[in-house]
Amino acid sequence: MQKTILLTGATDGIGLATAKVLVGLGHTVLLHGRNSEKLEAVKTSLLNITKQPEQIACYVADLSDLHDVIKLANAVKLKHSSLDVLINNAGVFKTPEPITKKGLDVRFVVNTIAPYLLTKLLLPLMSKTGRVINLSSAAQAPVDIPALLGQVAITDDFSAYAQSKLAIVFWTQFLAEKYGQNSINSPAFIAVNPGSLLASKMVTEGFGIAGNDLSIGANIVSALALEDVFSNASGRYFDNDAQQFADPHPDATDKSKVDNLIFAMKNIITELTG
Ligand SMILES: NC(=O)c1ccc[n+]([C@@H]2O[C@H](COP(=O)([O-])OP(=O)(O)OC[C@H]3O[C@@H](n4cnc5c(N)ncnc54)[C@H](OP(=O)(O)O)[C@@H]3O)[C@@H](O)[C@H]2O)c1
Repeated sequence: MQKTILLTGATDGIGLATAKVLVGLGHTVLLHGRNSEKLEAVKTSLLNITKQPEQIACYVADLSDLHDVIKLANAVKLKHSSLDVLINNAGVFKTPEPITKKGLDVRFVVNTIAPYLLTKLLLPLMSKTGRVINLSSAAQAPVDIPALLGQVAITDDFSAYAQSKLAIVFWTQFLAEKYGQNSINSPAFIAVNPGSLLASKMVTEGFGIAGNDLSIGANIVSALALEDVFSNASGRYFDNDAQQFADPHPDATDKSKVDNLIFAMKNIITELTG
């Protein structure tokens, strides 16, 4: 069955490779990017894979700005009454501007808070056969809530990134539990490490190495999004380095830490967006 899939960060790396797989399988793919020219170029390249241009749509949003996240959700809602899959792939590791205009670390905003807000806003479009796939990482570190709130600066890129990637596992589990038990319409929420050191610009620029085949990530993300075998995996973390479901960082089992993260994210969202 043809599905409608919103894929963030579709303009490069694992996202672009995943877009190629999904379009090739005949699905309708809503491509998200932050740069409209880069996004249009991706759309043009994907039109070589399909003869159906209506299979591809483009949405521009800078996920470091939560107002843009709301606009993105509204733009999707305007065109689509239902969404089968949301892939929260967009992410940032090293950047010359690590602090947003609102004084938050951009890794927390783009990698953790924006996908949470986008997911919450789009949940009404999704059903229990739907999936939310969240890109985490093997890099996971205890989340420093004052740092998330922008009260303490994180000077180390890797630490900021690893905290944001554990935090997305936290809220994946939280929403799976919250909606899985209470709503017949809840999609499955699945976190994934797509594979370490895959050959994206994040890895080449961040670590100065060529990296492994991007299809390793694209294939597992597509499979988690689509294959029946993963339909009961809500709340779980798939570690593609081990090619199986695994335990994330032990902090993910600490309910108070997860609750603190949710509380802090809600406060940030309320403060920044009203
Ligand atoms: N590569 C790996 O080995 C690896 C391992 C574990 C997890 N991951 C995760 O996999 C995901 C994809 O990463 P990647 O390796 O493919 O990196 P990438 O090539 O740098 O791609 C990142 C994507 O996110 C977009 N993005 C970055 N900041 C954004 C912002 N402020 N607003 C909107 N979009 C933004 C980028 O847009 P532009 O094209 O405009 O830059 C790009 O499309 C990330 O969540 C990453 O943390 C990657």
